[in-house]
Amino acid sequence: MLNLTGKKALVTGIANNRSIAWGIAQQLHQAGAELGVTYLPDEKGRFEKKVRELVEPLHPTIFLPCNVQNDEQIDALFASLGEKWGKFDILIHCLAFANKDDLSGEFSATSRAGFSTALEISSYSLTRLAKAAKPLMNEGGAIVTLSYLGGVKVIPNYNVMGVAKAALEMSVRYLASELGSSNIRVNAISAGPIRTLASSAVGGILDMIHHVEEIAPLKRTVTQTEVGNAAAFLCSDLASGITGQVLYVDAGYEIMGM
Ligand SMILES: NC(=O)c1ccc[n+]([C@@H]2O[C@H](COP(=O)([O-])OP(=O)(O)OC[C@H]3O[C@@H](n4cnc5c(N)ncnc54)[C@H](O)[C@@H]3O)[C@@H](O)[C@H]2O)c1
Repeated sequence: MLNLTGKKALVTGIANNRSIAWGIAQQLHQAGAELGVTYLPDEKGRFEKKVRELVEPLHPTIFLPCNVQNDEQIDALFASLGEKWGKFDILIHCLAFANKDDLSGEFSATSRAGFSTALEISSYSLTRLAKAAKPLMNEGGAIVTLSYLGGVKVIPNYNVMGVAKAALEMSVRYLASELGSSNIRVNAISAGPIRTLASSAVGGILDMIHHVEEIAPLKRTVTQTEVGNAAAFLCSDLASGITGQVLYVDAGYEIMGM
């Protein structure tokens, strides 16, 4: 039933084989989607090489740099996408960043620059990518972003990233409201804690995972593949009536009060 054959999907946020975006890319590919992949460029081209090798078995037909802090790169990405694909169907926003110093200790110590960086990369980027994607997306298209419970409840050390996720989840609602008339749906997945490059910057991430394993109804945390499956569902016609929502893929942790 879950069939994405004939759909074109742009996936951002793959850094390595632990990335949630990698789990999503694999599940979209398995469901039949044609993939485009972006990577974060760095001076030595390390990410590019690593991501290119990783995604090669999924045969992406677009592979381009995209630093979401760089408007020229975003516009160049979507110009290339328009030339190569014409229109497309799925945008996966699976990226975030905050300075490590701002991911432990006292929230009140967050610097002006650190706050701005975290919100720019982790929240504003969704709106900026949606703006560029909007004229190129087919009716029935879907945008999916990744959030975390720390945007709704206080999680020790998550700090400024929690504020960024709150802004991200509200951006999902405003974008869903706007893009609904073009029949483009916008949703977020709030994933349980998973060990990745980004999460390793959050102070006490292993304690968070162990806590979830103890408390969550399923007595474990989730995998990249489970998040990928949920993303594939949200991008498919099976979810055609769902927009503006935050879907918890967290082994049930969010429902627990104690
Ligand atoms: N790992 C978790 O426990 C968890 C839980 C819930 C939500 N999330 C969210 O999932 C998403 C993916 O994170 P992940 O855990 O897979 O870690 P990850 O480190 O694998 O992915 C983060 C990605 O963000 C990219 N990125 C950072 N700055 C960027 C920029 N300026 N421009 C473009 N890309 C940039 C990195 O290149 C990387 O690919 C993030 O939004 C994260 O907050 C993670």
